[in-house]
Amino acid sequence: MATAKELTDKYIMNTYARFDLELEKGEGCVLYDEKGRSYLDFASGIAVNNLGYNNTKIISAIASQAEKLIHVSNYFYTAPQALLAEKLCENSFADRVFFCNSGAEAVEGAIKLARIHAKKISGNGHKIITMNGSFHGRTYGALSATSQEKYHKGFEPLLPGFTYVDFGDLKAAADLVKGGEYCAVIIEPVQGEGGVNIVPEAYLKGIRDLTSKNGMLLISDEVQVGLGRTGTLFAYMNYGVEPDIMTLAKPLAGGLPIGAVLAREEVAKAFEPGNHASTFGGGPLVAAVANAFFDEITKEGFLDEVKEKSKYIAGKLLELKSKFPGLIKDIRSIGLISAVEFFDLKARAVAEKLIENGFLTTAVQEKVLRLTPPLVIERGEIDLIISALGKILAEQKKGG
Ligand SMILES: Cc1ncc(COP(=O)(O)O)c(C=O)c1O
Repeated sequence: MATAKELTDKYIMNTYARFDLELEKGEGCVLYDEKGRSYLDFASGIAVNNLGYNNTKIISAIASQAEKLIHVSNYFYTAPQALLAEKLCENSFADRVFFCNSGAEAVEGAIKLARIHAKKISGNGHKIITMNGSFHGRTYGALSATSQEKYHKGFEPLLPGFTYVDFGDLKAAADLVKGGEYCAVIIEPVQGEGGVNIVPEAYLKGIRDLTSKNGMLLISDEVQVGLGRTGTLFAYMNYGVEPDIMTLAKPLAGGLPIGAVLAREEVAKAFEPGNHASTFGGGPLVAAVANAFFDEITKEGFLDEVKEKSKYIAGKLLELKSKFPGLIKDIRSIGLISAVEFFDLKARAVAEKLIENGFLTTAVQEKVLRLTPPLVIERGEIDLIISALGKILAEQKKGG
């Protein structure tokens, strides 16, 4: 019988640089390959599996909703979707939600909402400011909002109307908005794919101020870092500023596909029936699972524990940096998303070495290794990867 690797390499379009590893099942924060070998997970899919694997709350939500109703169209009301919308709004700045199926689709919804809000309400132009180093997804609107050229190559022309500015350069954004051509700024509070670049608080506050004064909207793309990843329920909550629109996706439905666009009422009201839609968006199955996920991460003490573990992992990574000052250039960490940036080492090669040692991580930029463990990771498990990484770096030091 052909292996999964052989079939994949033959029949699936070649868009992913896959590791040579077939995964079969998971339990807690451990994944197993088809031969039963275990891997401690510091990737969580791509920051998706925040409750780890085989979580009983997620499994039972899937099973009980699947027996009742998997899908009906959005021409009807369903309780799981309505309850999820209530939870998201009552626990955030937002008043209304639009549900879709992925992060890119949530970003598309946010762009459309910002543009139609400008047309119908604010009177601003259609242009949007986005950040250098950003990643917002692969569909054309989201790709155009993404500044990194490596994702654009071969797909031009992109959607017009996006201007990239430096993350942190408030003057650059302020200079652009004077003529009223711009309707929004889209920003990731932490650039996950960009290499875990954490937005400086003063900059985000400055951008909030600038957008408010110019009738523009602030879009917080929290597809990767919303829903507990940074230790607060939503990443904007670390900064004492509220956006007008927020995008969510990855972890929201416990590993099932979902996306969401959240907005304040004055913004959301720009959408009318017929303006935007999604066949599967917020269907009863994914919404029921998302309710279960949301209830878990908002349980008393859950996010406090994430914050404590955040300090723990950051401390351990900084210790590694001081042990290997010639190899590690920088450690960036907030909540349970951390980056180890190397001077010269290729992150992909380190990730491959970690796989050999039984650990999964993500290489996000050429020299940046990202750790995004499930939020239920334990301190002892953090110790294990730190010691494996230490061993690998010690070998590099010897070899180099
Ligand atoms: C901040 C951000 N926005 C959007 C996306 C796109 O999400 P998806 O891959 O679900 O389309 C990602 C994916 O990594 C992301 O990190």
